[in-house]
Amino acid sequence: EAGLRRQLLDVHEAATQYFQAALNSPMAARAREYMSGRGITPETVQRFRIGFAPDDFNHMRDELRKHFSEEVLRASGLFTSKEQDQQGLPTGNLYARFRNRVTFPICNEQGKVIAFTARALLPDEKTPKYLNSPETALYTKGQVLFNLDKAKAAIRAQDYALLVEGQMDCISVFMAGIQPVLATSGTAFTEAQVRLLSRFTKRVVVNFDPDTAGATAAEKSIALLTEEDFEVKVVTLEGGLDPDRFVREQGIQAYGAALRGARRHSDYLIERARTQFPPRTPEAKVKAVNYLMPHIRRVPSAIQRDAFITDAAQKLGIDSSILRQEMKQAAAN
Ligand code: GTP
Ligand code: MN
Ligand code: MN
Ligand code: MN
Ligand code: MN
Repeated sequence: EAGLRRQLLDVHEAATQYFQAALNSPMAARAREYMSGRGITPETVQRFRIGFAPDDFNHMRDELRKHFSEEVLRASGLFTSKEQDQQGLPTGNLYARFRNRVTFPICNEQGKVIAFTARALLPDEKTPKYLNSPETALYTKGQVLFNLDKAKAAIRAQDYALLVEGQMDCISVFMAGIQPVLATSGTAFTEAQVRLLSRFTKRVVVNFDPDTAGATAAEKSIALLTEEDFEVKVVTLEGGLDPDRFVREQGIQAYGAALRGARRHSDYLIERARTQFPPRTPEAKVKAVNYLMPHIRRVPSAIQRDAFITDAAQKLGIDSSILRQEMKQAAAN
């Protein structure tokens, strides 16, 4: 209902201001140290409205109670309790969900804050590195693209979007001057996100973290995007750096060069197939083909599909007419 949504937006705006003020207070000294250590400038803090959630269970709740009903606080996702409903919303006595963390607002397309992600200063086994708002009446995780509000004009103008995993990757790249950048927030792309993005462009450059999780997420995202007829390119950064660290350590010029070196998704996948199954034996070639087959079949354009097959055959050392035959047989099954 409109009244509740309005109030949930208002409570998120109030929480954003609360966290922003906390970041400027003496108790946030360590958080400010942490951020300057990561190269997060005051300009970045302001632009992304980064804040700090104090190490306190009650204070923000007591402040917000002066302006918002218990129902709104409960539905906001900003609080938790010992008991929760299936959605992860609190049913008992409310206390702050985010404590002793750097807070990053998650905005809707219009730039209104609808959720938060919050990073621990010192993650350990007991505290997850990032903690996110649960899904609420305002926030459905799979339907939001982090930074869309700030990136959308540049995405339209430059007719492409750069997709990274982490909020920090996105923020660093954006502040370094590459504006059409979005974060999936550590998961693979969803269909809803693809649909959302297709309103702005059909061209994507994927630059996920160079680790197993990143490679898996990249693969899934490539699958969804190619299926929807996006032109997908993939960047893999040297030295095992994620975009955030790469920009800070190698500079934006080097990052721009890496982006210009983005490979077609088919080249990237063939390379992945070759790395996982070095095609030195017929058995390994079969595995490589099995890995690539679903990706090839997903490409909607017959011409591009055919080019993919020709490329794969050549780079795996297979006769391309045999690979075509295999594709047909697999399709018949
Ligand atoms: P930094 O250490 O802050 O640079 O993060 P990162 O770049 O190592 O993030 P990582 O590659 O681990 O994950 C990318 C994204 O996944 C983050 O921006 C978060 O949105 C999400 N993520 C990472 N860790 C967690 C976690 O412990 N819990 C949840 N829910 N999400 C996480
Ligand atoms: Mn990252
Ligand atoms: Mn990662
Ligand atoms: Mn990581
Ligand atoms: Mn990182």
